[in-house]
Amino acid sequence: MSKRYTITAALPYTNGPIHIGHLAGVYVPADIYSRYLRLTGNDVAFICGSDEHGVPITIKAKNEGVSPQDVVDKYHAIIKKSFEEFGISFDNYSRTSAKIHHETASEFFKELYDKGEFIEETNEQLYDEKANQFLADRFVIGTCPKCGNEESYGDQCEKCGTSHNATDLINPKSAITGNAPTLKQTKHWFLPLDKHEAFLREWILDGHKSDWKPNVYGQVKSWIDDGLRPRAVTRDLDWGIPVPVEGAEGKVLYVWFDAPIGYISSTKEWAKQVGKDWELYWKDKDTKLIHFIGKDNIVFHCIIFPAMLKAEGSYILPENVPANEFLNLEGNKLSTSKNWAVWLPDYLIEFPNQQDVLRYALTANAPEAKDNDFTWKDFQARNNNELVAIFGNFINRVVVLTNKYYQGIVPAPNAFSKIDLETLDEVKAFPNIISGSIERYRFREAQMELMNLARLGNKYLADEEPWKVIKVDEARVQTIMYVALQIASALATLSEPFLPFTSSKLRNMLNISFEPIKMSWSDITSKNILIPAGHQIGEAELLFSKIEDDTIQKQLDKLIASKKANEAASKIVEPQKDTITFDDFTKLDIRVGTILEAEKMPKAKKLFVLKVDTGIDVRTIVSGIAESFTPEEVIGKKVTVLVNLAPRELRGVESQGMILMTENQEGKLVFVNPDDSNTTNGLQIS
Ligand code: MF3
Ligand code: ZN
Repeated sequence: MSKRYTITAALPYTNGPIHIGHLAGVYVPADIYSRYLRLTGNDVAFICGSDEHGVPITIKAKNEGVSPQDVVDKYHAIIKKSFEEFGISFDNYSRTSAKIHHETASEFFKELYDKGEFIEETNEQLYDEKANQFLADRFVIGTCPKCGNEESYGDQCEKCGTSHNATDLINPKSAITGNAPTLKQTKHWFLPLDKHEAFLREWILDGHKSDWKPNVYGQVKSWIDDGLRPRAVTRDLDWGIPVPVEGAEGKVLYVWFDAPIGYISSTKEWAKQVGKDWELYWKDKDTKLIHFIGKDNIVFHCIIFPAMLKAEGSYILPENVPANEFLNLEGNKLSTSKNWAVWLPDYLIEFPNQQDVLRYALTANAPEAKDNDFTWKDFQARNNNELVAIFGNFINRVVVLTNKYYQGIVPAPNAFSKIDLETLDEVKAFPNIISGSIERYRFREAQMELMNLARLGNKYLADEEPWKVIKVDEARVQTIMYVALQIASALATLSEPFLPFTSSKLRNMLNISFEPIKMSWSDITSKNILIPAGHQIGEAELLFSKIEDDTIQKQLDKLIASKKANEAASKIVEPQKDTITFDDFTKLDIRVGTILEAEKMPKAKKLFVLKVDTGIDVRTIVSGIAESFTPEEVIGKKVTVLVNLAPRELRGVESQGMILMTENQEGKLVFVNPDDSNTTNGLQIS
């Protein structure tokens, strides 16, 4: 039965491009779900837009010496374009700086204000005397009162996900000046979450125990059990939507108050363009509202926004909030500031026309139940061993052989064998299996089942071997190819939510993209013939191509370069030691020597036992350089030696002096080098 759905995907902050973490956590699953619902005949509004307010934007603007508007204009354009090219099928992608959004958010605030749903309170808030500014949200960093994370933000701790008031932080520090803030009186409007606690308890804890994901339900339960408190929904900032009431000059709406309303304003914008009634998508109780988000957004979508909607009174509440955990990259947390990411705009340039490969790899590794890791090796393997070797190979054989044997015309089948009938029956089961997984938000499982259908096709051809049978039984080959073409047609439809570009190419190849053969999801189960005998298909085209090692290595090299740059940037320069006198210095007897022999000290990772010609003698020196050089690299090398250092025993070997070393910018050990192979041993350095 056809239903109405409002599907939202978290509005991305416009302070940087989209990366694979955003895609895997939010946009790819939301897109699979929306495409699936459309394909199964539902009325879908898939809604998103840019989140252009909030402190991260102003910090970015400050760092770059431009205005917040410049920042959001730049990234809104980049993000919007990359979503389009990647095939995220939003019905509307708006932005929170749009007029319609300012109006909608202001009206929403006014409505709650007029209904007396806020507490107006003047109290002390954190203030930075030096920056002349109140400190809220990301402008203040301190210790999380709940988990002890020392780098919690004023409104949310990224470690434990708790949302709190800035004054709750222990040892707060201004992110602008580093100063400890003072307290200053200011007036704000608070949403009394405590007032909505009973309703939230009943609605989520009692009502959604079995259908919400355990990670989402568990977080919500722990917050409610901890007790909810009033939360300020206004801020003393100059970037945002002005608070639309008297006595609120210089104050704006808290970004987490305005942004979720962005889903509503984006829906309005869309409805106007396509001539629909937006209210049906937000106020009709038969509409299902689903929020796709990452786990750091759970509190806002499961507690604060529903409390706002409930307080307003005329809106529906989300049916489900299938939040994902986080995706890591090559074992480390994704980070915009550390450039530890795979950026969507870069991917689109470096892997042209390979959107589906990334979609496939991200879904196969989706962090649905726990954090997960993206690696380039896995990406390559998913492409080469699954998309190319299974899906692509099957389709290629079907289309090539149909063209070769029958000039591309689907042959009429003769008597079906037992295997044929079983195979056709198995195909019919797939739509329900895949639907079942998608409807429970298990996209990895759903995609795996899609691949199992391709596996079924591949195995069928490998077992039936039409390319051999053609020599002895042409009539049998007609049946084999007919069956294989039915599987290929089912794949063309069932792959659409996951691999939309591939599905479209495949429908073109099979010539089933348009009337008269238009197939829906359920036809695969209910109809016996998906592609009829006599139908003309097109030429074979490669769906996927192998990704070579050097392509992957290039991506890994980029990450290594990021890592090095981060290490260099974060390297702390040691402060200068206490001053010594000239007499202290002249006590050092430093000479040029040559390393004659070098051996690793057994069981000591760092140590070499060296034989060094100092010009005075040949002596043993134990040196801690074994992690930076091989013995071959140092043998024959001219080095600077402190020769009058008192001998010292290291692991049973007496060391008679010290090789002078220093660290270069990358933190690598280098010799304090006499640098001239003609320098005589024993030369005194003064
Ligand atoms: N911009 C937020 C983030 O990236 C998400 C906002 S979702 C919305 O974490 F509900 F507020 F729109
Ligand atoms: Zn915390």
